[in-house]
Amino acid sequence: MDRKELIEKYVRFFESKGHVRIRSASLVPENDPTVLFTTAGMQPLIPYFSGEQTHPQGKRLVNVQRCVRTVDIEEVGDTCHHTLFEMLGHWSLGDYFKKEAIEYIFEFLTKVLEIPLGKLAFTVFAGDNNAPRDVEAANIWKSLGVSENRIAFLPKSENWWELGGETGPCGTDTEMFYWMPNGIPAPEKYNLEDSNWVEIGNNVLMAYFKNKDGSYTESSQKNIDFGGGIERIITTLDGLEDNYLIDVWKPIIEKIESISNKSYIGNEREMRIVADHIKAATFMIGDGVVPGNSEQGYILRRLIRRAIRSLRKIDVPILEMDATVEISKVVIELYDDYDILTNNKEKILSELKKEEDKFQKTLDKGLKEFEKMCSDEKIDAKESFLLYQSYGFPIELIKELADEKGISVDEKGFNEELSKHQELSRTASAGKFKSGLADNSDETKKLHTACHMLGEALRIVLKDKNIHQKGSNITPERLRFDFNFDRKLTSEEKISVENLVNAEIQKEVEVKLEEMTVDEAKASGAEGIFDSKYSEKVKVYSIGDFSKEICAGPHVDNTDEMGRFKIKKEESSSAGVRRIKAVLL
Ligand code: ALA
Repeated sequence: MDRKELIEKYVRFFESKGHVRIRSASLVPENDPTVLFTTAGMQPLIPYFSGEQTHPQGKRLVNVQRCVRTVDIEEVGDTCHHTLFEMLGHWSLGDYFKKEAIEYIFEFLTKVLEIPLGKLAFTVFAGDNNAPRDVEAANIWKSLGVSENRIAFLPKSENWWELGGETGPCGTDTEMFYWMPNGIPAPEKYNLEDSNWVEIGNNVLMAYFKNKDGSYTESSQKNIDFGGGIERIITTLDGLEDNYLIDVWKPIIEKIESISNKSYIGNEREMRIVADHIKAATFMIGDGVVPGNSEQGYILRRLIRRAIRSLRKIDVPILEMDATVEISKVVIELYDDYDILTNNKEKILSELKKEEDKFQKTLDKGLKEFEKMCSDEKIDAKESFLLYQSYGFPIELIKELADEKGISVDEKGFNEELSKHQELSRTASAGKFKSGLADNSDETKKLHTACHMLGEALRIVLKDKNIHQKGSNITPERLRFDFNFDRKLTSEEKISVENLVNAEIQKEVEVKLEEMTVDEAKASGAEGIFDSKYSEKVKVYSIGDFSKEICAGPHVDNTDEMGRFKIKKEESSSAGVRRIKAVLL
């Protein structure tokens, strides 16, 4: 299936059910300074979910929304992460609710897309103190012929949806899963742990509002918010293991193959980074963003510069050809249904060219400097700041370069240098540079404390004191923790780690903050990077007598706030480094 065919079928179907097609909104949210980019189709519609405002086009809407998610930019390069993606969306604004919502999407999947029922499964909310078990949704699926085995009741971590911010409309959801392998028949029973079941759509049954204090209030207007990622749906239904093989990537990849004179096979990672980043950059400029040092402009700059580095890795003679410009032209042609691209073509190409020229001038020299800095196994604050300021290396790129060499970057020191030079943009002050934390919400704090406990549990279970954190990234939804270890964990080990963390959480211990010098911290047995250049005091967080670590915080006050710890994924991150993704339920 191709993109245009899927969009046409989807929009037509929902129009036939009384929905009106609305335009895809700008990637830069209008009237919402708290977020940098539009991350979901529902975001531009927030004012209409409370019922305070009525949408000029009615109560049933459908569209295809361009979205950008920046949390995982460094993960782009694998088979399935994208910075920019398109989301199929339809909404009921206080009109129909569960019954029609489930019936419509069922009809779309089984009649329009002709997916056999045997390849589908559905999940619904299991219930907690905020919202009851969704027996009603399960019964509606059953009334359509879905067997009980293919309906799973799952907890909040799976079947609750809200945006990352402090407040907003939210609710339980019911998700649709597709059994991907063609040769193997789908098992009778759906199993969350089996990655052959791939999510292809999510109906948020929006009946709550999240308050500032973290509590939820039932809302008077009930809405439906459906979202389905186009790239994911096409790849899954086509039974492909690599998203980059579908029509929305193919011409871009082919262009990169032709300008590099190399094949995609064997160069997948770099070609995916180039294709993804230039596509996202093209859309961002089309929506009015220009490369800069703060907010959206900084993200755009990061994307273009990371793409240029990948182009160099596959030996594209960038100086002789405007590589980013040539690739962007293919993107504009491919997405000819976006007038923000066709109308702004000249501007897009000229901004890319300017940024490419600028970075080209300093990239070689910067890389040479970087090589010299590597000799002492560490990039200190002054060095990283030099790479940033004089050679235009985004800090994320410096970290990536250092990671590849297996050396560390003093990011805290870098941030201090940055503040000293009074260039601390809102991106930074909003926490984007801080210890891998996406924000300072309660959820993020809990997961941050869980990160410390996870590190300690790994050292104990794997009986290796030399295991240390090699990176982390925490959003309100999940934690990501990288650590040095050279093999896959066994299921037993993962369970032991979970049990150990959960046992400590259940002890309801206090999390204590003390300030001390680096030497005192070292002597006390605290975990952390001991930078001899730190003359001032550092913060040390202790979790009962289980863990002690140098860290800038923030953390919970007591582990009783945390819930249950669960590992969702354990995988390789790079040579000798494993990555764990985990949640608190
Ligand atoms: N807003 C929901 C999502 O992004 C549909 O998954």
